[in-house]
Amino acid sequence: MDNSKIKRYTVTAALPYTNGPVHIGHLAGVYLPADTYVRYLRSNKRDVKFICGSDENGVPITLKAKKEGVTPQVVVDKYHKIIGDSFKDFGVSFDIYHRTSSQMHHQTASDFFKTLYEKGVFTEEITEQYYDEKAQTFLADRYITGTCPKCGNENAYGDQCENCGSTLNATDLINPKSTLSGEPPVRKETKNWFLPLDKYEDQLRTYIESHKEWKPNVLGQCQSWLNAGLQPRAMTRDLDWGVKVPVKDAEGKVLYVWFDAPIGYISATKELFEYARLDVWNPRAEEYYINQNEVEKGNWEEYWKSKDTKLVHFIGKDNIVFHCIIFPAMLMAHGDYILADNVPANEFLNLEGQKISTSKNWAVWLNEYLEEFEGKQDVLRYVLTATAPETKDNDFTWKDFQARNNNELVAILGNFINRVVVLTHKYFDGKVPMCMKITSTDQQVIDELAAAPAKISASIENYRFREALGEVMNVARLGNKYLAETEPWKVIKTDEDRVRTILNISLQIAANLEILIEPFLPFTADKLMKMLNYGGHTWESAGRVNLLHRGHQLNEPVLLFEKIEDDAVQAQIDKLNQSKLDNNTTSATGAPAKEDVQFEQFSAIDIRVATIIAAEKVEKTKKLLKLTLDTGLDQRTVVSGIAEYYKPEDIIGQQVSLIVNLAPREIKGIMSQGMILMSEDADGKLAFVAPIAKHQNGSVIR
Ligand code: 2FM
Ligand code: ZN
Repeated sequence: MDNSKIKRYTVTAALPYTNGPVHIGHLAGVYLPADTYVRYLRSNKRDVKFICGSDENGVPITLKAKKEGVTPQVVVDKYHKIIGDSFKDFGVSFDIYHRTSSQMHHQTASDFFKTLYEKGVFTEEITEQYYDEKAQTFLADRYITGTCPKCGNENAYGDQCENCGSTLNATDLINPKSTLSGEPPVRKETKNWFLPLDKYEDQLRTYIESHKEWKPNVLGQCQSWLNAGLQPRAMTRDLDWGVKVPVKDAEGKVLYVWFDAPIGYISATKELFEYARLDVWNPRAEEYYINQNEVEKGNWEEYWKSKDTKLVHFIGKDNIVFHCIIFPAMLMAHGDYILADNVPANEFLNLEGQKISTSKNWAVWLNEYLEEFEGKQDVLRYVLTATAPETKDNDFTWKDFQARNNNELVAILGNFINRVVVLTHKYFDGKVPMCMKITSTDQQVIDELAAAPAKISASIENYRFREALGEVMNVARLGNKYLAETEPWKVIKTDEDRVRTILNISLQIAANLEILIEPFLPFTADKLMKMLNYGGHTWESAGRVNLLHRGHQLNEPVLLFEKIEDDAVQAQIDKLNQSKLDNNTTSATGAPAKEDVQFEQFSAIDIRVATIIAAEKVEKTKKLLKLTLDTGLDQRTVVSGIAEYYKPEDIIGQQVSLIVNLAPREIKGIMSQGMILMSEDADGKLAFVAPIAKHQNGSVIR
């Protein structure tokens, strides 16, 4: 969109599910680039609303509630506060962080559905959906997992494969099983309302093709869906948690979470203006993290319906289809809304070489970071932006975090600011000296400084935040190089006026840095502003060398960054290693952990204490013994591969654990009726698993 035509911006960041705290992957992928972009726009005095909130509906929430044995409301209340507080402490400057469990959202989503319904957009279809007979519930979305038909990922969800990004219907999955009972589901008929995406295919294609400037990863995904042909998609679900379907004969049905969640952006914007419009304080301002002072009078509709509004969605790559195909189709069907001008989706961030995993606790959680690295928000902001997975998946490591802090923030940015402020105090009582005669070296620095903001702007406006941050650091490098070349600490002995000029220019660079770092490092910008003892400037002043006037008094120098020592990062690495052990994903023997089984599956196995009453070698084999066991139920024969470890005569009277209901198998012509449990160590050595105290034969092991 042509900048001159833009009157205002609506910037959204994906609504995180309130089923756990936010981690560094979310920050690097979505919230930091969005916040940087918005802070930059605000510094440019553009009219922008930054919208986010908790995604509190859908199966991710009800599953978590089941797991924790609490109601979904308890889950969403808990995590809404944890996530909202940590975003605030991290300086993510939303205008509102709303909730999709709010009255405003339920009303807005419900009205949106009704409008489409009344326009005859939906098709009403009775289809067979998966049903869990044990749990007596339909299995939508994450209630069902199975193998993705497109990429073979065995843990694909009923609506989406997170591995290849495909959207799926539960009935597409190979070997589907219920997440609730672990059982294969049955099919049962139910009525749902479908959005005929196929009817919007041409319109969507025109829309996507008009945005050749989108990131290649986003365009690529969109094109492959369009080329595969779009199918109608159910927009309702048989669930009891979410926004009720507001039409007749829809008892027990709610809106599909991916229908209501993006409408959450709209309801949040409405909430933001609702009370400002009435000129009263929103009684829920705190709960929704509304910065009430920021809300001028206005109208939410301008931010969603005016052609001169630029709408930008910041999301992770697993959300592309929902924001580029399904939500636009909903908006097209409705007719009143503008479409996104850009959807700058990022790839994924890994942690220490492994995929971030909530269930395996392989993550750096924002709320924990904020406690453990108090006052160091900008270090994480810096590292995550400098290593953001903008074009490909990227890796976060604690060693790199330490190195970037110590070698870049401390040694380049912090060092420059410190030197210039300290020297000004030392030679001129902390007052900005006058700029005297300019040399060609000075002019070159002034020119380079003047050129920097435009470069940084171009990178930010094209969603290349890594590159932009690199350019900002180059300004600090420029300052360091200038000081190193001009050596004011030496020149002071002979030519005080020359030092006046050098420090004046250096201080102008410092004041410029305050403007340029603010979108990325707002806490540091604030510290720097205080040190320079002024109110700061907006972006339009960047590049100029008259930001601090002669005689202006600076405050005492404070360190912007401090070194991070080895023990602080080692503690984090140890914490991750502990998660690895807790998960026990791979034991010391190298045997990987197996997939979870449900209790019902485990309890179907009948394991009993039994005693070996006779034992002999099976002829012509090295490994097998034929054992006779007293199981307390009967006497039976079992063939076991333990001959290399036990002699027959040594094990008479030995108690063992025996699976008594394993289907009999013939081994070397002998019918074996059960299996003895053995433990196997890293060398493959076997040992009996038996009760420590002597137990009656037939005692149940569970
Ligand atoms: O993937 C997620 O975490 C979703 N909760 C994102 C929703 S974005 C939007 F549409 F609200
Ligand atoms: Zn897949």
